[in-house]
Amino acid sequence: MDEAREQAVTDEVIASFAGTKDERLKEIVESLTRHLHGFAREVRLTQEEWTAGIEFLTRVGHITDDRRQEFILLSDVLGLSMLTVGINAPASTEATQSTVFGPFFVEGAPEIELGGDIAFGAKGNPCWVTGSVRAVDGTPIPGAHLEMWEADEDGFYDVQYEGDVTAGRGWLTADDDGGYRFWSVLPSAYGIPDDGPVGDMLAATGRGTMRPAHLHFKVDAPGYRTLITHIFVAGDEHLDRDAVFGVKDSLVADFPEHPAGTAPDGRVLDGPWNSVNFEIVLEKA
Ligand code: BEZ
Ligand code: FE
Repeated sequence: MDEAREQAVTDEVIASFAGTKDERLKEIVESLTRHLHGFAREVRLTQEEWTAGIEFLTRVGHITDDRRQEFILLSDVLGLSMLTVGINAPASTEATQSTVFGPFFVEGAPEIELGGDIAFGAKGNPCWVTGSVRAVDGTPIPGAHLEMWEADEDGFYDVQYEGDVTAGRGWLTADDDGGYRFWSVLPSAYGIPDDGPVGDMLAATGRGTMRPAHLHFKVDAPGYRTLITHIFVAGDEHLDRDAVFGVKDSLVADFPEHPAGTAPDGRVLDGPWNSVNFEIVLEKA
């Protein structure tokens, strides 16, 4: 096919969307067509490569279910998730930065009291997490809803365990001053799931699968933009090569280790434990 005939195919497809009533949908499908066709033209896509691509996406769909989201993982390793986070970043530089959501958030996690423990049996050094939620102008946000989730010390989320287990996740409500505190386990670095098509793609391209240790947060409060973020553990060797490009300097925090003894909430620990403080700043919706 010569250039003009290739362009004619693209033009015909774009014209087919002319009647789309929703202007935003029209913009998206037209642009998608332009870029998808441009990609095929640029790499001179062969029939076999097209088939391989379709088979790859079919595998991504087949392996996805309620507890595994291979499409999100694909978006993450292609950097599309972080690009979208960046495009939609809060205008204020004071607000806490967002990062990738990832595939391991689960609706309906258990509620914990302030000062409670999200470990629910997840293995790892106990970690005392404190902070507060406030607006960009410093006003505390009482009653903010915080959801947290994390991998255990072996680098696995509960949804990767055998059976229907809940561990390393929970939610709480900030106090009247926007303060929050809870126990968790010290986050560990882990490899993203590599036993599916996304793992095959990373292997074929010689890319790593590791994510630096982190604790996930999703913070909601009426009138404010939802914040989806993590805190990363300072000093982790994978901070400069996160498989999903999620690290931002402002989200890296110290998790100092303390000897056995009494923690700030009176809990007595017979082994070492860690702590971290994370101040959360939300932007108005
Ligand atoms: C996560 O942090 O849970 C995650 C993010 C992206 C891909 C895989 C895991
Ligand atoms: Fe994670």
